[in-house]
Amino acid sequence: LDHGADFIIRDLSEADFGRKEIEIAETEMPGLMALREEYGAEQPLKGAKITGSLHMTIQTAVLIETLVALGGEVRWASCNIYSTQDHAAAAIASQGIPVFAVKGETLEEYWDYIDRIFDWGAENGETCNMILDDGGDATMYALWGARVEAGEELFTPTNEEEEAFVATLKRRLEKSPGYLTKTVEAIRGVSEETTTGVNRLYQLAKQGKLPFPAINVNDSVTKSKFDNKYGCKESLVDGIRRGTDVMMAGKVAVVCGYGDVGKGSAASLRGAGARVVVTEIDPICALQAAMDGFSVMTLEEAAPQADIFVTTTGNKDVITIDHMRSMKDMAIVGNIGHFDNEIQVGALSNMKWTEIKPQVDMVEFPDGKRMILLSKGRLLNLGNATGHPSFVMSASFTNQVLAQIELWQRHEQYDNQVYVLPKHLDEKVARLHLDKLGVKLTQLSDDQASYIGVDQQGPFKSDEYRY
Ligand code: NAI
Repeated sequence: LDHGADFIIRDLSEADFGRKEIEIAETEMPGLMALREEYGAEQPLKGAKITGSLHMTIQTAVLIETLVALGGEVRWASCNIYSTQDHAAAAIASQGIPVFAVKGETLEEYWDYIDRIFDWGAENGETCNMILDDGGDATMYALWGARVEAGEELFTPTNEEEEAFVATLKRRLEKSPGYLTKTVEAIRGVSEETTTGVNRLYQLAKQGKLPFPAINVNDSVTKSKFDNKYGCKESLVDGIRRGTDVMMAGKVAVVCGYGDVGKGSAASLRGAGARVVVTEIDPICALQAAMDGFSVMTLEEAAPQADIFVTTTGNKDVITIDHMRSMKDMAIVGNIGHFDNEIQVGALSNMKWTEIKPQVDMVEFPDGKRMILLSKGRLLNLGNATGHPSFVMSASFTNQVLAQIELWQRHEQYDNQVYVLPKHLDEKVARLHLDKLGVKLTQLSDDQASYIGVDQQGPFKSDEYRY
């Protein structure tokens, strides 16, 4: 896999196939293409050295090439061991862009690739100056490096993933002392893609441990109310079907969590004909689920009744070993939240595992009961399918590019806190996606605008409006 060049991918000969799919994706990503048009000449990212960690898919390839078209340099890795599309990675590598991503890479390779995207020339002290992150692993890697060098003790690993993280970080700290500290000092900011990564950033900011400003891309309305919802609406069932080919109609499917991803996931399963049950801890979301027509119960109650289980919470230990014990034979279990700790996969290590195909395992319990586990509990829409469609990712990634430009150009106007993009940019992202769908917007008259107290050109809602 290691080609001796500045990239690690599966197979460079897949680059042509990747390019063809990238060209199709471009026709479905009007937001990104409009930014190339608007800013191509101006080169607003000139000088930006962006360390990027985000699922290396075809859609991400269009994001990467947009960042480059705007003057940025990038080094890229996937933020999940199963989410890479190898032909997308090949197409990016063939452009001479450093990319480290292989579908099915090991955890050791995963952290090694994160390390490689921070290595902009450690031997001569060259560093990145921006991070584009999804889930916060890249940010965490650099921050831990700097914190250990400042005298803080590194945590003791409790699982395989943490072991790989700690081993890789220690190697870097020994090999290039001071390098990650210098990196963190050079970083002007991070733009973060997802709910889980954003949670990590808010926690860091609260503890005073965020050393640069962050833009929370997730909470742009045109991200979380579209990607998390409409994206999962398409990609959840896609993943289950590609993984199992199971008949959905009539099955009982449980969706744990009814946030944005849960709403899209429940709609996805309902659309496929499943009878959907929701579990929630939040009374507001539980009430929403009930009034959207779903039964809401505890997982203890639902576990023995259902055929398909999907976690969407961003929380840990949501499906426990006891829940899995009480499920029916051949229940299908998967997760679409960011990390695999939503399902207690570790507790299954002593069971009998049979790999049906990559990212689909049959796990047999001592009593002979079997369970189909998708993507070993990692996000199944990217592990078993190809993630969200291009169109919705265009909205997400247009926010990402605007956030990168903002932080690169105006970082000194920000404190070391977490910000969302201003509403006029959020509305701009939506606007860029209307033509493709033939949407014709109604214009406010002057009189109407002043009657409801907004500017004729927007923003049309207050920052508190929830959509
Ligand atoms: P959210 O905060 O809107 O929703 C999570 C919901 O889970 C909340 O309503 C919360 O009350 C509920 N919850 C928490 N603990 C629970 C428990 N023990 N049992 C039942 N419900 C529980 O977050 P969002 O935006 O829906 O994201 C969820 C996860 O999905 C995050 O990890 C996020 O990073 C990830 N994500 C994955 C995507 C994908 O393509 N696979 C796309 C976007 C986000």
